[in-house]
Amino acid sequence: MDAKDSIAPVAREPSAVAPALLDWYDRHRRDLPWRARPGETLDPYRVWLSEVMLQQTTVATVRPRFVAWTRRWPTFADLAAADEADVMAAWAGLGYYARARNLLAAARVIAAEHAGELPRREDALRRLPGFGAYTAAAVAAIAFGERAVVVDANVERVVARLFAIETPLPNARPAIRAATDTVTPDTRAGDFAQAMMDLGQAVCTARRPKCLLCPLSRHCAGHAQGEPERYPVRKPKPDRPHRYGTIFWLTRDGDQAREVLLLRRPDRGLLGGMRALPTGPWEPAQPGLAGAPADADWRALNVQVSHGFTHFTLDLALVTGEAHGPTEGDAAQGEWWPVASLGEAGLPTVFAKAARAVMGMEAG
Ligand code: ADE
Repeated sequence: MDAKDSIAPVAREPSAVAPALLDWYDRHRRDLPWRARPGETLDPYRVWLSEVMLQQTTVATVRPRFVAWTRRWPTFADLAAADEADVMAAWAGLGYYARARNLLAAARVIAAEHAGELPRREDALRRLPGFGAYTAAAVAAIAFGERAVVVDANVERVVARLFAIETPLPNARPAIRAATDTVTPDTRAGDFAQAMMDLGQAVCTARRPKCLLCPLSRHCAGHAQGEPERYPVRKPKPDRPHRYGTIFWLTRDGDQAREVLLLRRPDRGLLGGMRALPTGPWEPAQPGLAGAPADADWRALNVQVSHGFTHFTLDLALVTGEAHGPTEGDAAQGEWWPVASLGEAGLPTVFAKAARAVMGMEAG
């Protein structure tokens, strides 16, 4: 038996996932006010309300708000009869007001057209105001036990790990949904969905998942690979854009020593007010000798200095030149600084790097 055979990747044994998870859920489920306690029957109104509230808000925030709301409006009929302004006010702090408006609109449709009862099936639920794919699936499964594939952010993480789905989000969503479908059981689909959510919240956490406590670790391809937190894979952030410029290393023989020209950067802008080596403009394409501080016989060095600013990376070419006679233009406003004590000029990192590069090359 080789290593591959000693683990049971979930794709080969999807039917083992639901029993293991449901067994865990029966022992570890969170006691939440919208869940039925043993012996109680579930109230579809409460399930629906909780799912809408939980879409943008954490369980901890929702819990007291849910209790207060259901005391005030305990049924679809009560909510349908409510004043819109009261409903809006009661929603404050629970996310987009459009959700509250849809909640009220749906309650009125249910009261007027469905005899105060939610339809059971996902496709019928989808036609009610505010029921997107997630809400319809969650309510069908949790309130009515219909087999529906429920994928929220927690489920997405658990399933991406279970199957080691390499496609980055958001492109991975269809694959994650299809994979969730293969492990969703025909019975107890609602408990299964909530078990996935509880597992994602308490065990299969975004950082440092607690695989030792996980009822699915034996089936988990991400765990088998040893790096479950790598999933779900996310698209790398786009590279910072680059800008290009030129640093002008202009030297002269001073009275005492070799000197290099420094300028003070404009007060406004990056590195504002700091002493710096002269640069021309920083542009999307290399600007060459534009903005040179003096007329000189510029020679390009074969080095480039890069520096990461928050919004772009700056790549600077280096050119050297010798000043002859009195300086004019920008150079006239600068300071001639002894090269040997450049360390005391307090240059920003990018220019200190450039200075080291030039001096290294001259010494070499
Ligand atoms: N998040 C969204 N729906 C939930 C539920 N029914 N239980 C726990 N967390 C949830």
